[in-house]
This record gives sequence, C-alpha cells and structure tokens, in this order.
Amino acid sequence: MKNKLEQIKNQAFTDLHDLMNKKTSLNLEENLRTLRIKYLGRKGELSQILRNLKDLSVTEKKELGALANSIKKDLEAVFKEKEDEILGGNSKDYDLSLPGKEIKTGHLHPLTLIQRDLEDIFKSLGFSILEGPELESDYYNFEALNISKHHPARDMQDTFYVNWEKNKKDEKLVMRTHTSPVQVRAMQTYGAPLKAIVPGKVFRNEAIDASHEHTFYQLEGLMIDKDISITNMIALMKELLKGIFKKEVPVRIRPGFFPFVEPGIELDISCQLCGGEGCSVCKQSGWLELFPAGMVHPKVLEAGGIDSKKYSGFAFGLGLTRLVMMKYHINDIRLFNSGDLRFLEQF
Ligand code: PHE
Repeated sequence: MKNKLEQIKNQAFTDLHDLMNKKTSLNLEENLRTLRIKYLGRKGELSQILRNLKDLSVTEKKELGALANSIKKDLEAVFKEKEDEILGGNSKDYDLSLPGKEIKTGHLHPLTLIQRDLEDIFKSLGFSILEGPELESDYYNFEALNISKHHPARDMQDTFYVNWEKNKKDEKLVMRTHTSPVQVRAMQTYGAPLKAIVPGKVFRNEAIDASHEHTFYQLEGLMIDKDISITNMIALMKELLKGIFKKEVPVRIRPGFFPFVEPGIELDISCQLCGGEGCSVCKQSGWLELFPAGMVHPKVLEAGGIDSKKYSGFAFGLGLTRLVMMKYHINDIRLFNSGDLRFLEQF
C-alpha cells in the first residue's frame, strides 16, 4: 500500500513534468485540468485509498493515512503552482465578482445615420443609389453641367484644382464641388427613364466658419422621364421633408440660379435651431437654404445622351451636412470632421 502511494505520487510528478515541458501543447490549461482530475479527482486512486482507510487497522490507518494525506497536499500544491504558471498569476488574486471591463464598440457617424435614413426613403420611392468619383474631371464637374470655362458661376464653387495629374483628355482634375457631375455620368450609363440619388462627399475652397467647411456632404437627386414637370418636383420634396422631419416644416421657395437647371429654385426651411428667430447658423435670417433644385437644363440632358425633346426631368442637391445640423441641432459644422469624441459619442 505504501509503495502504491509512492508510485501514484511519482507518476503524478512525471506526468506533470512531461506536460509542462510539452511547450507546444495547445490546450495546456485543459490538459492540466484533466491531469488534476486523474490524480486528485473523486474517482482517482488516491481518493479511493483515502476512502478505504477506515477499513484498516488503527496502526495502518495512522501510518498510511498520514502518508496519503501528505501526498495529497503535495500534489495539490504542485498543481496549484502549475496552474498559476499557466494563467500568469496567482489565481487567488482573482475577484470573480468584480464587474468586467466594458468593451467599446464603434457606432455610426451622424452623417451616416441621416444618409441611411434618406436612402431608405428614396429606395421606397423606387430610386437607385449611385456613386461617382470625388476627384472629378473639369468636364463633368463644370462643362457638362453647362458651366463653361470662364462662366462666373465657377466663382461660387471655388475648389481644389489638382495640377499634378491630367486625365486622358488632357483636362485638369478637380476635387468635385458638388454631386451634380454624377447626373451626367448616370444619364450616360443608364439613359432614360432614370430615378437616382447620389450621396457623397464634396469639396470647396471655403473660409471656414460655423456653417462653412472645405469638406461636406450632399445628396443629389435626379428624376427623368416623359412629362416630368415642376409639380412632380414639389410633390417629391414635400414627401421627402415629411420623411426627414416626421412633421410639417415651414418652407419657402425662391428663384435660384444654377446653369444646369432651368428654371432653378431654392427651397429654404425654417431654421430648426432657433425656430426661425435668427441665429449664427441661419445668419440671423430664420431661414436655412436646404435644397437648390430645378428642371434639368436641356443642354445637360443632351450631354448625358438623352433626347431633351422626348424627356424632361428635375434635379436637386440636398445639403446633407446642413440637414444633419438641423435635425440634431448641431450649431457648428466644424464638429463633423473634428474627430472630437465628446461630440461623436452623443449619437
Ligand atoms: N450642385 C448644386 C450645388 O452644389 C446644387 C444643385 C443640384 C442645384 C441640383 C440644382 C440642382 O450648389
């Protein structure tokens, strides 16, 4: 019996030694647990011997009992030691009742949230969602939109000209000033009839203040079909505003000039930040320019390869950034690109 006990002890130490030296063992922790159960578990040989001690004579019980218990203690200590080695610390120090560390998950930028809302509204109206290049040719950004080389309308959209690269037609490339160039690209690709929106990033050489940024977002809309009139345009805009603000928002329509629409309009909404009282964002006017829009100019339809005698359409350029400012009552456009977590984590 004494030999048996010594044998168990030696075998346990050998097994343990082997396991710990097998550095490649993938499940070291699990293997150690298995080994522990084998030697110290209820069904292990050692436990059985301890259980049967009661059947032995008093002297045997005394001698073997002491030995078996001391082996058990030794094994428990050595297993504990190895466990700590693997877990990298003293497992007694773990307080399992402590609350866990919060794992921060990412979330969507307010611009993305609104963009997705709008995409849903337009998808439900049967519009496709398109994209176009941010580094655009002078042709698509201006000329195809009826803004010729020296047209004063270019002044309103001063941007960043990229001199170091010219495209195949030997034209300068520009950081697109609006999403309108995608109108012509879409017409060329898909023809008429056409219903599409183009959300995207645009760039201008602006003096930056609370409502002007060099980089902001627009959402272009375009609908071309037979017999499309300005009435269709106004109906769609009303539908859209209802979808965005979930309530009636006071609007006003003014004439507006853009070379690529005829006639052109500006749709203003009552400033949602100050409730129409006047603030720095609405330049004290109580109104905010939200939608320039208009009937697509025949020259633009022709540039897109569409017969302007057969088809007509309307287009609008929604200021996505401005809309987000209205919706969430954000009074400084510079916050969007600031990366300031105190701002971003509010959404
Ligand atoms: N692209 C114009 C701008 O950014 C907006 C616009 C789009 C106007 C479509 C009319 C129609 O200023």
